[in-house]
Amino acid sequence: MRRLLALAAVVLTLHACRTAPQPVSDDDARLGTEAPASLEVVDAGASPAGPSPAAIQPRDAGFATDDDEEEERPATLPSRAVDAGSTPSGPPPADAGSTPISKDAGTNAEALPTPDAGSAGRMAAAATVDAGPPPEAEPPPAPPKPKPELADALPLPPVPKGLPPLPPSQANPLTAEKADLGHKLFFDKRLSKDGSQACATCHHTDKAYTSGRAVDPKVGGAQNKRNAPSMLNLGFHREFYWDGRMPSLEAVSLAAWKGQLGADPAAIAKMLGDVPLYRKLFQRAFGEGPTEQNVPKALASFFRALTSGNSPWDKFIAGDAKALSAQAQAGWRLFGKLGCAQCHTPPHFTDFGYHNVGVGDDPGRKDATKDELDTGKFKTPSLRNVALTAPYFHDGSVTNLTEAIKLMAQGGVPNPHLDGLLKKQTVVSKDLSALKAFLEALNGDVSYPDAPELP
Ligand code: HEC
Ligand code: HEC
Repeated sequence: MRRLLALAAVVLTLHACRTAPQPVSDDDARLGTEAPASLEVVDAGASPAGPSPAAIQPRDAGFATDDDEEEERPATLPSRAVDAGSTPSGPPPADAGSTPISKDAGTNAEALPTPDAGSAGRMAAAATVDAGPPPEAEPPPAPPKPKPELADALPLPPVPKGLPPLPPSQANPLTAEKADLGHKLFFDKRLSKDGSQACATCHHTDKAYTSGRAVDPKVGGAQNKRNAPSMLNLGFHREFYWDGRMPSLEAVSLAAWKGQLGADPAAIAKMLGDVPLYRKLFQRAFGEGPTEQNVPKALASFFRALTSGNSPWDKFIAGDAKALSAQAQAGWRLFGKLGCAQCHTPPHFTDFGYHNVGVGDDPGRKDATKDELDTGKFKTPSLRNVALTAPYFHDGSVTNLTEAIKLMAQGGVPNPHLDGLLKKQTVVSKDLSALKAFLEALNGDVSYPDAPELP
């Protein structure tokens, strides 16, 4: 009898689950435009260090290539699972009175936070992030599909708090199936000529996808001359490699596959096609087996889904004054005062532009443009997760974060091509510690923190 009752209870609970309104899923219109808070640029003139971050944008506009199909329109991820519970600390207070934000996305894109602690409250007040369930009931869930060997693709992670909507790719629309496949390929040594290295060999999960070494040997033994950069938030970049010579994530993925892993793409694609599970995964993602073209497309899709955000700084900007220590808040103010934000512009902490700070004697951007004026310029590295990416600079020549900050605060290394935005300034050690505490508060949640299971 007791058993029967228990059974009845289970049945009832199951029934209740099925008929209860489901949490939102695939509601791309709402989540996809989860724009950064509409941030008032307050106090733009207060920084003695010069123009506001926004003011320097046009300076680099000339370097943008036309062949970038991804820049045209702001839009949304095609689909993603809503993941209200994924934010470990829950939504910040500013989310409470949420409103749909799709209409505001365009205007929000321009507004950037300035390092002004006093404006945090106003920023928070303006923050509009969607939270509640939709008013109307969802259709009943579809019956589970029988798919024995093929596990469902990981759902696309939502763009984390603090980042704007991801620019879409027309040429290679992002799907969960492609990103999931790219995640696997990135960690698979079978992509290399001799099975010795994967992409992840130089881009480690625990180092914000950098290698931890100044420079790394490629498959075959040749040495890289530049430091392996982070793979986080690359979906927001327009050009790739330190000198920006690659116009798309697909192009740089193919180049890395051949250059770093020594691959003959056609031969390796054929070999992957002999792995039954890969064959199925490629079929599901692209409707065809692995090819020279779709391997880089899968890798590029993984990068578009690989984000870092919701850092203590993002929470602070969204209105949680306690998310940053007093020291880190002092560092954030200094970051504005010393002019760092002119190039390391929030919310990405890069302007995606190129600057000469005088480190090393590599021609840098000049390699890509052949323009003498680009001598020694490098793409401004994002400072998100920077505390995890030592050693620093394009040549990995600076081993710790304090030294890197010091070099930048002192106005870089004097040379004939030094960027005009850099000024010689004196910083005391208290200021260096504050800047470091602030930069540490840019460590965020990484959407793919672990290596996947390989086919
Ligand atoms: C042997 C080390 C190594 C391996 C293996 C490696 N990379 Fe890299 N990666 C680098 C280095 C070094 C750079 C910077 C090169 C430059 O700027 O000239 C880089 C840069 C990149 C960039 C550009 C990032 C930016 O900010 O512009 C992407 C994307 C990338 N790699 C993807 C991959 C992929 C995909 C694979 C596997 C197919 C891979 N890497 C394998 C060392 C490596
Ligand atoms: C003129 C633009 C500009 C300004 C202003 C600027 N930076 Fe940078 N920063 C760069 C560029 C470009 C690099 C990479 C240079 C290279 O690798 O040769 C860089 C590199 C760094 C790095 C190393 C990051 C890495 O991943 O290797 C740190 C840390 C850093 N900057 C902090 C700061 C701080 C702190 C300030 C303010 C005191 C500042 N920067 C001001 C352009 C700038």
